[in-house]
Amino acid sequence: MINNLSEGDAFKILQRLMNEMVFILDADFNINSVNLSAEKTLGYNENEMQGKKINSFVPDTKMFDKFLDKLKQKNTISNFESAFLTKTGNEVFVVLNAERITDAAGKVYANIIIANNISYNKAFEMALRNGYEELSAFNDMLIDSKKELEKSNAKLIELDRLKDNFISMISHELKTPVTAMQGFLSLLAGGAAGPVNDEQKNFIGIVRNNSDRLLRLINELLDMSKIESGTFSVDYSVEDLRGIIDTSINDIYAIIQKKNIKLIKNYELEKMPAHIDSYRMSQAVINLLNNAIKFSIYNSNITINVTVEDFDRIQFPAYIDKNGLKRCKYYRFSIKDEGRGIPAESIEKVFDKFFQVNISETSKPQGIGLGLPITREIILKHGGRIWAASEGEGKGAEFTFIIPVE
Ligand SMILES: Nc1ncnc2c1ncn2[C@@H]1O[C@H](COP(=O)(O)OP(=O)(O)O)[C@@H](O)[C@H]1O
Ligand SMILES: [Mg+2]
Repeated sequence: MINNLSEGDAFKILQRLMNEMVFILDADFNINSVNLSAEKTLGYNENEMQGKKINSFVPDTKMFDKFLDKLKQKNTISNFESAFLTKTGNEVFVVLNAERITDAAGKVYANIIIANNISYNKAFEMALRNGYEELSAFNDMLIDSKKELEKSNAKLIELDRLKDNFISMISHELKTPVTAMQGFLSLLAGGAAGPVNDEQKNFIGIVRNNSDRLLRLINELLDMSKIESGTFSVDYSVEDLRGIIDTSINDIYAIIQKKNIKLIKNYELEKMPAHIDSYRMSQAVINLLNNAIKFSIYNSNITINVTVEDFDRIQFPAYIDKNGLKRCKYYRFSIKDEGRGIPAESIEKVFDKFFQVNISETSKPQGIGLGLPITREIILKHGGRIWAASEGEGKGAEFTFIIPVE
């Protein structure tokens, strides 16, 4: 022992410093003294508790008596989970450690119970358990929704396949009769069935224009369905890009004239050979030309520039994926109009199938929004890229594509 500090004093100080509750009981479990922590936790002061049975401060006397019986039998007990009741009626969960104290003759004269307050742990445990239960309920919900989603997804895939088949089938079925009609129209117009007067010629021309338009739409649907089923193919040979562009322009010259549009062409070279599917490339150029004309005002300019550029010098917009592009020289084709332009938020979307920039129904020009996605596929198949630019609505649009020179 340290000088001047008796064991009794040391014991009292220790009790006062302890977070655990200490109960000193007589042989019959009547409270003799308690420490500060017990007073604070249970809300009674020591003299309110003194002389009372310890089990008058518990919520469940039966269970507590079990503990006391055990203590009697074994003289010492560790880690027994139980509870006390505070003065205000709250339960305090505790872990009890206890010992019976005997004198030299073996007679019990006291019991010491130390109670560790684990209410906080309990509350935490409860919160955890509740949280866990909520989580697993949520998880079950997620699993259910995943199953639902998988089901609807499978259904959508099936519907999409049906739609593709339907479009492909319908387009074939439509194409045959329209082609036949066009054949007979030509015969009629050529006088094969007898002479035609001017009015009849005029009518035949109108029917012809409309069936041309119908055929264009059918062909676009067919091409799109080929793209979606992965059967859209190109057949290259060495062709002159410049020649193809010139022929394409000639094919639609009538509508350029109709709007009195001035077409300005700048070619960097006399000949521009490359590996090209001339039918598909012409289709791409015509699509771009058609759009430029369609969205242009009368008496405006359309400018076509074709240059040769090193891969490193080409300025791509950020959204273009350059992966897979050959590092070689490219032909750079651009077509710029002075028409209504494209709002910035639609500049990428114009290449999506069926996308058309929002316009009032009355001013809606012809078309179903397949020209650009098909054009893009053609350019991709040629190892190139295509993109659009516009300084905004009313300020014209510029479409640019590149294809490898080699
Ligand atoms: N030169 C252009 N000027 C302004 N808008 C354009 C131009 N070219 C295309 N667009 C916009 O992109 C949309 C999609 O074009 P496209 O795929 O060719 O379909 P369509 O011509 O059948 O509408 C057009 O409807 C239009 O809104
Ligand atoms: Mg178009």
